[in-house]
Amino acid sequence: MAKKFYITTPIYYPSAKLHIGHAYCTTIADTIARYKRMMGVETYFLTGTDEHGEKIQKNAEAAGKSPKEFVDEIVAGIKDLWTSLEISNDDYIRTTDERHEKVVQEVFTRLLNQGDIYLGNYEGWYCTPCESFWTDTQAGEEKICPDCGRPVHKAKEEAYFFKMSKYSNKLLEYYNSNLDFITPESRKNEMVNNFIKPGLEDLCVSRTTFSWGVPVRENPRHVVYVWLDALFNYVSALGFLSEDETKYNKFWGEDTQILHLVGNDITRFHVIYWPIFLMALGMRLPDKVFVHGLLMMKDGKMSKSKGNVVSPVPLIEKYGLDAVRYYLVREVVFGSDGTFTPEQFVERVNIDLANDFGNLLSRTVSMISKYFGGAIPEYVGCKNEFDEDLERQARHSIEQYEKNMESLHVTEAFVEVFNYISRANKYIEETKPWALAKDETKQEELKSVMNHLANALRQSAIMLQPVLLKAPKELFAQLGVEEELQQYSSLGKVDAMGGQIVNKGNPLFPRLDANVEIEYIKSLMGGNK
Ligand code: ME8
Ligand code: MG
Repeated sequence: MAKKFYITTPIYYPSAKLHIGHAYCTTIADTIARYKRMMGVETYFLTGTDEHGEKIQKNAEAAGKSPKEFVDEIVAGIKDLWTSLEISNDDYIRTTDERHEKVVQEVFTRLLNQGDIYLGNYEGWYCTPCESFWTDTQAGEEKICPDCGRPVHKAKEEAYFFKMSKYSNKLLEYYNSNLDFITPESRKNEMVNNFIKPGLEDLCVSRTTFSWGVPVRENPRHVVYVWLDALFNYVSALGFLSEDETKYNKFWGEDTQILHLVGNDITRFHVIYWPIFLMALGMRLPDKVFVHGLLMMKDGKMSKSKGNVVSPVPLIEKYGLDAVRYYLVREVVFGSDGTFTPEQFVERVNIDLANDFGNLLSRTVSMISKYFGGAIPEYVGCKNEFDEDLERQARHSIEQYEKNMESLHVTEAFVEVFNYISRANKYIEETKPWALAKDETKQEELKSVMNHLANALRQSAIMLQPVLLKAPKELFAQLGVEEELQQYSSLGKVDAMGGQIVNKGNPLFPRLDANVEIEYIKSLMGGNK
C-alpha cells in the first residue's frame, strides 16, 4: 500500500496581508496534496500562522490594538484568501491556539530537564523584522542583517540557550544517509558550508525584552523564542502530547512520507534547528524539506515590509481561480526564483489556457457536432501514423507527468500536460478533418480523429485537476465524460470515449485583451487592493 503523506507550508506571519508569494507556496502545496489524494494516497495537508514575536507586538501597538485582536483580524483575511484559492488544507494551526502553546511549554521543559537547554547571557545583533540574532561577523562592519539587509541593533539579555553543537555531527550523518532530505541539493551545500562547517553556535531560545509569546513555565519572565515556538506547529497540529495522539501517531509515523515546503528565506530553520530539536526529543525526522524560490517584482524581492506586493484576490476576481492557480504553478519553476510580471500573466492565460487548451475543446466539440450530430464516434484503433504518434505522446506525457509529480518537479509535470495539448492541436493540422469530411472514403479516419481528440482532452483534464479546479469539470460536462472515466485510474484508457453526446458550452477561458489587462494588473501592483 502506498505510504501516507503529510505536507505542510510555512506558517506565515500575520503581520500584514499576505501577497502572491505566500499564495505561490500554498497553491503549490495544495496542488501536490490534491495530486496525492487523486493517486489514492491518504494525505494530510497543514497550513497556518506564526503569531508571536516582537514584530507582531510592535505592529499591533502601532495599530492601537492588542496583539491578539491584531492577529485575529489578519488571520481572518488569510483564511478568506485560502478559501478563495480553494486551498484544501485539512487543518489550520495558529501558534496562539492553546493546543499549540501547551506543546511548546512541554517541549521546553523536557529539553531543559535533559540539559539541552541552559540559562546564560546573550549579547548580539538583533534583526527585529527577521526575529534573528546575529554574531559580530555575521552582522559585518555595516551591522546589517545578512538575511534581509536591514540594520540590526545590539541586544543583551539573560536568556536560555539550546546546545546546538552537541548535535551537529548527528545532523551531518542524517544528511549523508538521506541524500534528498534537502531539495534542491544546492540548498544543502549552502547550509553545510555557511552554517554547519564553521561550527554551530548554541541558539538563544528565549527572550525577555517583550512579552508576546509563550511564557517559559519555569521562568515566566521569559517567552520562548519564536522559531522554537513556530517549528513545533508541525506536530502540535497533529495532537502531539495531547490526550488523543491518534493523528500524530498516524501522520508523524514511520509509514508516512513527511514533506515540508519552505521558501529559501527560512531554509536554515527547517534543515538545521528543526531536525536537531526533533533529534534531541528522540522524535522522527521529516523525509524532505523542499526549498522553493522567491517571487520577485521588477524592483526586487516582493515583501510585506517593502510594500511592492500584488494581492492574488483582485486577480482571482477578474480572471478566475483557475487562471491564477495555473499561473502560479506554471510560471515560476518550482525550486527556482522568478519574477511576477503582468505581461507573463496575460500571456499564460491567452496562450496556454485560452488558445491551446480552451480552443482545442471548442474546436473538437464543434467538429463532433457538425460531422456526427454531437455523438462521439467509437474508438477504432489507429488508422495512420498521426494516430499512432498522438497515442505515443499520451503514454509519454502520462509517464513524465507522474515521474515529475513524484519527484516534486511540479512545474515540469504541467508543462508535460501542455506538451500533450500542443501535440493534439498539431494533430488537427496534420489530419485536416475538414478535408476528410468532404471525402466519402475517409469516414473511418475522420471518426478516429474525433475519438482521439476527445480522449486527449479527457486525459489532459484528468491530469490538470490538481491545479485547475473549474475547467476540467466544465470539459467533462461538454464532452459527456462519465464519472468513472474522470478518475485517474482510467487515465491510460485509449478507448474511453465513444457514444457520449457532446454539449457545446462557453469557452473555458475567454481571451484577454492584452493591453487593457496589462494596464489593469499594473494598477494593482504595490497597491493594497
Ligand atoms: O518566515 N515568493 O513567515 P513569512 C515566494 N513565520 N514565496 C514567498 C515570498 C515570495 N516573494 N514571500 C514569502 C515566516 N513567501 C515564518 C515561518 S515556519 C515554521 C515559520 C513564502 O510570513 C515562502 O514560503 O515571512 C517563505 O518561506 C514564507 O512565505 C515566509 O513567510
Ligand atoms: Mg519573511
